[in-house]
Amino acid sequence: MPKNVYFYPPISWGIFMQLTNKKILLGVSGSIAAYKATFLVRLLIKQGVQVKVIMTNAAKDFVTPLSLSTLSKNDVLSDIATNDSWANHVALGRWADVMLIAPLSCNTLAKMATGLCDNLLMAVYLSATCPVIVAPAMDEDMWHHPTTKNNLQKLEVYHNKIIPVENGELASGLIGEGRMVEPEIIVKYLEDFFISKDELKGKKFLVTAGPTYEAIDPVRFIGNHSSGKMGIALAEELTKRGGDVTLVIGPSSEKISSTIKVEKVTSAAEMYEACMVIFEKVDIAIMSAAVADYTPVAIANEKIKKKEEVFTIELTKTKDILKSLGEVKRKNQFLVGFALESTNEKAYALGKLKAKNADMMVLNSLKDKGAGFGINTNKITIFDKAENEYHFETKSKVNVATDIVNTIIKLNNA
Ligand code: CTP
Repeated sequence: MPKNVYFYPPISWGIFMQLTNKKILLGVSGSIAAYKATFLVRLLIKQGVQVKVIMTNAAKDFVTPLSLSTLSKNDVLSDIATNDSWANHVALGRWADVMLIAPLSCNTLAKMATGLCDNLLMAVYLSATCPVIVAPAMDEDMWHHPTTKNNLQKLEVYHNKIIPVENGELASGLIGEGRMVEPEIIVKYLEDFFISKDELKGKKFLVTAGPTYEAIDPVRFIGNHSSGKMGIALAEELTKRGGDVTLVIGPSSEKISSTIKVEKVTSAAEMYEACMVIFEKVDIAIMSAAVADYTPVAIANEKIKKKEEVFTIELTKTKDILKSLGEVKRKNQFLVGFALESTNEKAYALGKLKAKNADMMVLNSLKDKGAGFGINTNKITIFDKAENEYHFETKSKVNVATDIVNTIIKLNNA
């Protein structure tokens, strides 16, 4: 029987789209970053969002209302009154699930901080009953001005949410802080905003991450370049959705949020022991650690001295944690493995899925640029037990974690 092959776009577009059918009122104010509003509207519409755009007059110098009305499939609003019709700012604010102002210019920020109502955008903002999220954009010196800081603090006091600016090239040609974040990041922010904090409530997870170090003597070990970033991102994504997560992590210098239970281990044997105990109590286990396959037969008690010309260390296989969990897995437990391959990727990944009795395998190919150890991005393909394939574009590890968790939820509930 032919297997299904699914392809997903480069944004964090899960199988469950968090934003589908959401109503977003997008305010665009006058900043060079206004051109990014077109990309933003496109991404939102692709996710099934209903978008209505309000522009300030200054924004029209940077992007045309026609572009935004075409992309949003709705008239773009700008004026409180046109000819004999009046834009109902109260109804607009009540229609939206969220009002997003992106880009937020210095001028509109100042008006929001003081409640100055001299255009439609401000009238809607002041009467909006929905949450308001802003993505500021300005040049570095404006960004660092004390007035800007004061205004932003006021916005926070008024319960508006602020998407932090980026550091990068600015319209002035300077490099610094003040750049509006890219539309993909705004979409991710909105997805996180709408994620149900209770989606995974009551579910228990085991996640492994990082490398293992296999001691040779008191000062040396065999290790690998895994940073632990992918596993930490998974643990954080699960926690954000209400999951009860235990992270078993090998030596890693990455920061881990304090809301996650962490068990630190060093060797493959220690990771095995920890996982076998924790697995009994969890519903889902995700094995993203880069566990050493071999470990020295004996660890020297003293530092090994440099004597021989050619030095050999005898190695023995470590216990395969994923395989061991697969052997004791109960019917209602769901087991996820990772496969890092450089050739015959699909065949190896499916082979590991079957041999280790996993329910889902996440494949990283070393052939893909943007995937692998130490970097912030990853590119994955997921296989399920029925050999269906889910292909994803290169994304940040945080967004990849969203895709993996969405796929686990889909397959586990199927
Ligand atoms: N794994 C494990 N215990 C080991 C080795 C690997 O639990 N001792 C897990 C990894 O965490 C991963 C999966 O098995 O989820 C596949 O790991 P990988 O290193 O790609 O495969 P191996 O089975 O070790 O095979 P090979 O190294 O020959 O590709």
